Amino acid sequence: MSKTNLLSRIGQSASQNPMRVDLELFYEAEKDQFHPTNNPEGKIAMNIAENHMAWDMLRERIQRVTRENDIPEWVASYTDPAGAPSFREATAAFLSKFLTKSPLPAESLAFSGGATSVIEMTAFLLGNPGDTAVIPAPAYPVYSGDLGALPGLKRYDLQTDQSWSELNSGVSISPELLQKAKDEIEASGSTFRMLILTSPDNPTGMIYDQSQLETLADWCEQHEVHLIVNEIYGLSQIDISHPELQQDHPQPLRFTSFGKLMAKRNSPWLHLWYSFSKDLGISGFRIGLLHSYHQELITGYRNVGLGHSISNYTQWVMQEVLKDVAFMEYFIQLSQERLTESYLIVVKSLRKNNIPYQASYGSLFVWMDLFQFLKDQSETSEQELWLKIYQETGILLTPAHGFGHQKKGLFRMVITGVDELTLKEAMKRLTQFFESPSY
Ligand SMILES: Cc1ncc(COP(=O)(O)O)c(C=O)c1O
Repeated sequence: MSKTNLLSRIGQSASQNPMRVDLELFYEAEKDQFHPTNNPEGKIAMNIAENHMAWDMLRERIQRVTRENDIPEWVASYTDPAGAPSFREATAAFLSKFLTKSPLPAESLAFSGGATSVIEMTAFLLGNPGDTAVIPAPAYPVYSGDLGALPGLKRYDLQTDQSWSELNSGVSISPELLQKAKDEIEASGSTFRMLILTSPDNPTGMIYDQSQLETLADWCEQHEVHLIVNEIYGLSQIDISHPELQQDHPQPLRFTSFGKLMAKRNSPWLHLWYSFSKDLGISGFRIGLLHSYHQELITGYRNVGLGHSISNYTQWVMQEVLKDVAFMEYFIQLSQERLTESYLIVVKSLRKNNIPYQASYGSLFVWMDLFQFLKDQSETSEQELWLKIYQETGILLTPAHGFGHQKKGLFRMVITGVDELTLKEAMKRLTQFFESPSY
């Protein structure tokens, strides 16, 4: 009997499928990290969505909380598995002010360890195993695992089939396209249970404006499909009014949080995900949340959520930071300025090298088209190019496979995980690669 047979079906699948295919190379790259003087030939990992842009500032503020305050009594005990009451209040106030820009009741929130766990919890509370979650392509590769591994939902990559210049005026998801997906899913014996949008999107940086959200919400409510908008990058907005970026957005869309529309409709079919991992750059704190007016969903979340809950110590520290509104205002402004600076470094270099990229509104990424360097249109060729870039330049991009897009040769670069000097070094090396006659 092989060893894996000692495991359940889920256990066997978990033991055989790594969370991401690029993790091993990531650990290797981290061990041989670039340093301008100590390791100038070192590797630069740009594949994992981390934001270190303003950690210096946040760390200082967090340390002030722990220096100046005694730990309150409640921190050592059990609390509401959906989030400690004082933390839920502080987060509701934070989200209302900075993200949704409309009042948001604390009782509409449920927390767990990062968006990853929120996605998993929401998926098994709303969907039955075998149901389908529709996600416009390209999309976050790990959705497949979060929705699939435990909740057993299928991922359907909705191909919107647009050129990049068309995409600049919005992701084209029409009611007809949704109906076509619904028919296809039902013909295969499954149920179209939820539509998941990410805004700003990972990896494209695209957003959905208010009128599009309204249209999609109408369709979903009418067809009894849950619409969930993941706004995990909601405050990581790029200043597209910057003189050097205006050319990329001739008819700019405007970001409106789905929370605003939810407040108006108060519908059990509409939900929002958020996390502190990206905008606040604290993925290690593991704070994620579901916002929903569907009270039974929040109650169910609470009833089964203890295993996923966030440590009270983390909740306490962060509630104290969030309550300092002036600090948060400055922190968000500074983060967005630094994000815009990083974005500019990358896109200016790509422009010089004639590498097409998707004009972004926000997120931590640049999504670029390296199709011209592929040998052919196969996945193998994509994989070879990804490895070749790593071997020749030491730059680890996110592998293209997994984003679910039918176009080949599109790669994601994380632009917020390294400092300015390292980012410039990365673009210098990539420029050499793009110019190299072997390609
Ligand atoms: C769209 C999206 N959702 C969820 C996550 C996971 O976030 P967390 O670290 O809060 O679990 C990520 C991380 O990259 C993401 O890009």
